[in-house]
Amino acid sequence: MPVTKDDVIASLNKVAGPDGTPLPKTGTLSEIVANDGKVFFSITVDAAVVQAWESVRKRAEEAVKSMPGVQSVMVALTAERKAGGPAAARPPQGQGGAGAGGGGPGHAHGRQAQGPQGVPGVTSIIAVASGKGGVGKSTTAINLALGLRDLGMKVGVLDADIYGPSLPKLLAIKERPQQTPDKKLKPIERYGLTVMSIGFLIDDETPMIWRGPMVISALTQMLREVEWGTLDVMVVDMPPGTGDAQLTMAQQVPLKGAVIVSTPQDLALIDARRGIAMFNRVNVPVLGIVENMSTFICPKCGTRTDIFGHGGARREAERLGVPFLGEVPLEMTIRETSDAGLPIVATQPDSPHAAAYRTIAANVRDQLLSGGTAKPGPRIVIES
Ligand SMILES: Nc1ncnc2c1ncn2[C@@H]1O[C@H](COP(=O)(O)OP(=O)(O)OP(=O)(O)O)[C@@H](O)[C@H]1O
Ligand SMILES: [Mg+2]
Repeated sequence: MPVTKDDVIASLNKVAGPDGTPLPKTGTLSEIVANDGKVFFSITVDAAVVQAWESVRKRAEEAVKSMPGVQSVMVALTAERKAGGPAAARPPQGQGGAGAGGGGPGHAHGRQAQGPQGVPGVTSIIAVASGKGGVGKSTTAINLALGLRDLGMKVGVLDADIYGPSLPKLLAIKERPQQTPDKKLKPIERYGLTVMSIGFLIDDETPMIWRGPMVISALTQMLREVEWGTLDVMVVDMPPGTGDAQLTMAQQVPLKGAVIVSTPQDLALIDARRGIAMFNRVNVPVLGIVENMSTFICPKCGTRTDIFGHGGARREAERLGVPFLGEVPLEMTIRETSDAGLPIVATQPDSPHAAAYRTIAANVRDQLLSGGTAKPGPRIVIES
């Protein structure tokens, strides 16, 4: 018998909150997702009392884990600040250099405790982002990751698009992550990449009733409660947009830098500018811009057509003083391989398109190497 939401609530009734109230009666529980033996929910409490709740979160997780038919559980603890309380801490200036990868002993210092902590074993975390949806972020993220792999790096990919995860499709992954003896989730390995997505835990049909804070917490858990091992680079595929949720994400993940993907037309570039401005706000250096769907070469006649224009992102990068990382054409095989779960850099490594992604990867690596001194990108004011 599959575990139901009611079964989970019944089991949580035996878990008491800090004042002894059964957990389901404390008013802190989110929607409970129970699907195919995988259970996910969050506990949202005021930031002032969050520490007292960590043991409750653990006990809740253990109670559900011990239920027959439960294969894995993720319980997120989310701190909500009451309106009028102090604003959420901003990462300190320059956290991109020191915070990323420094998850070891160093993070006990007060300064780092304010900003996001590094993930132990992971040297650099970079985001692939855009202001606009559908410009090819996920396709770029996975092929960039494979390009970095080809440069000899150990690379992981974290799908942070919790509303519309892409990795299950991009890599044709149907299997579920296993749990390790110390109750972490084991990421999945494909093409030499270590990958994790909320989509591996939840079916397509599961309604995505995530509240804002829960999304952040799920993301933090995917960073910290997944056994990532040792990685040179973790590529984070960000959800589209530059709203509060994305800003908070950019703030929560200890990013060393961000890669902005844009198509060449003006409208997309405005969104790309918003993306850059967002990373500026949280002091994350922009590693550069990628122009995707740059030009179209007709497979039949070889004629080149610039469907969305061409070179717009390069010009924009120059104008804004951020590096231009490379361009990828609008190409049927890229769409087909991407949608079939066979990313082009892995499956057609000798194609010119795979070469384009490898060039971008080499540029990203160079930016990261100089990133010890990289400053946050130029300040950009968005005219609304
Ligand atoms: N260079 C390209 N040539 C042809 N098709 C492409 C290219 N890049 C991406 N695509 C296709 O465009 C669609 C959108 O791409 P993708 O999912 O990577 O975008 P996204 O920015 O991550 O979208 P979302 O905002 O929904 O997360 C996919 O079908 C993908 O295969
Ligand atoms: Mg995407």
